[in-house]
Amino acid sequence: MDQIIVRGGNTLRGEVEVSGAKNAALPILASALLADGEAIFRNVPDLVDVATMLKVLNVMGCEAERLTGKNKHVCRIKVGPGPINPEAPYDLVKTMRASVLVLGPLAARFGRARVSLPGGCAIGARPIDQHLKGLRALGADIVLEEGYVEARCKRLRGATFAFDMITVTGTENVMMAAVLAKGRTVLENCAREPEIEELAKVLNKMGARISGAGTGVITIDGVDSLKPVDHAILPDRIEAGTLLAAAAITGGDVLVKHAVPEHLDAVIQKLREAGCEVRAENGGIRCRGPKQLNAVDIQTREHPGFPTDMQAQLMVMMTVAKGTSVISENIFENRFMHVPELNRMGADIKVQAHTAVVKGVERLSGAPVMATDLRASASLILAGLRAEGRTVVSRVYHLDRGYERLERKLRSLGADIRRVKA
Ligand code: EPU
Repeated sequence: MDQIIVRGGNTLRGEVEVSGAKNAALPILASALLADGEAIFRNVPDLVDVATMLKVLNVMGCEAERLTGKNKHVCRIKVGPGPINPEAPYDLVKTMRASVLVLGPLAARFGRARVSLPGGCAIGARPIDQHLKGLRALGADIVLEEGYVEARCKRLRGATFAFDMITVTGTENVMMAAVLAKGRTVLENCAREPEIEELAKVLNKMGARISGAGTGVITIDGVDSLKPVDHAILPDRIEAGTLLAAAAITGGDVLVKHAVPEHLDAVIQKLREAGCEVRAENGGIRCRGPKQLNAVDIQTREHPGFPTDMQAQLMVMMTVAKGTSVISENIFENRFMHVPELNRMGADIKVQAHTAVVKGVERLSGAPVMATDLRASASLILAGLRAEGRTVVSRVYHLDRGYERLERKLRSLGADIRRVKA
């Protein structure tokens, strides 16, 4: 298993390009199931989670592959003319809960879906009750059997449905189901993430009739069939935010190319409050870190609030800030697993329920640490960039699920970081 070794103390400077967004690529790859023929997706990040989604599509009988060489960020998905077996098996779903995103497209297109129920996950229980409730509202008959969700339906029917809580993949799943339903669907209390707008953009290119994506109410007029498309995925706002945080915590000066400022409003605001100079520049975002960061309070919220996927990275900045910051995690119930590891590096963080109180310290010191989930692993690397001495991050497979060679990008900015086989 790989480890990442960081020697802290270098100031990051230069320019770096952000990759395509993981959380847009996953639903968009699943959406290919909605049409026969060959779809081409570009700017698809080369990540373990994307490889898992391609496997899910392959086991169902699609031809799903990543091209090679200079086309390695292109994925090709061909649906038909061979039969599709609308089943996502436990072995794959257990490694990536976003596999459940095939449920909506399969039910809509084939009138049948059998998808393993994802289990709990490191950051929280993460049930999918809202996905199922939404599909039922559209007329799907859903039973849970032997650890699988089985959906059966004739053609789905448009309906008005309000989510009980805001869910990103839930909104995506039900939106994908509704595009082929008969009549109009109105979805209320929807998630408003840029990745949802991006998915709607792709579906509309395929011939769907969706309006309101990116707002709380999405209206979908069902169509009879869709056609495959060629589409380039938008840049990853969380990877961009992580690179901005790397500049901030090392007192560096980094331009993150292709990052979209409007997708990162809440993060940029907190970086500025912490003393960073952040500005839109040349189709990207530049961040200059101060000598001494200020403590800021953070509350994670659904978009456009501060993203839970940036909580761990901002917390690391706060470990060396002047003063005390209070960080509340309101989306997932167990997303502070990086805290004990950061404390082993000399941070002073106390957690009570869903709130962490971070007292800034003078210095962090390098240590062997263990990654527990995707964003936690990024936060440990950020801590390593700032710490004195050597930090060895194990269980790097978490990082590889969602960051395309983060260590290379950081090295290109001047970090002393390398990957080794343990
Ligand atoms: N929830 C339910 N019932 C449901 C659905 C969600 O109770 O049917 C709860 C969850 O347990 C959670 C909250 O609602 O407490 C929000 O979960 P949501 O469904 O929005 O999360 P998700 O769709 O499973 C996506 C991202 C996550 C990101 C969250 C929140 C993808 C593939 N994943 O997950 O990304 O943290 O939204 O923004 O889009 C990551 O990239 O590191 C990551 C975890």
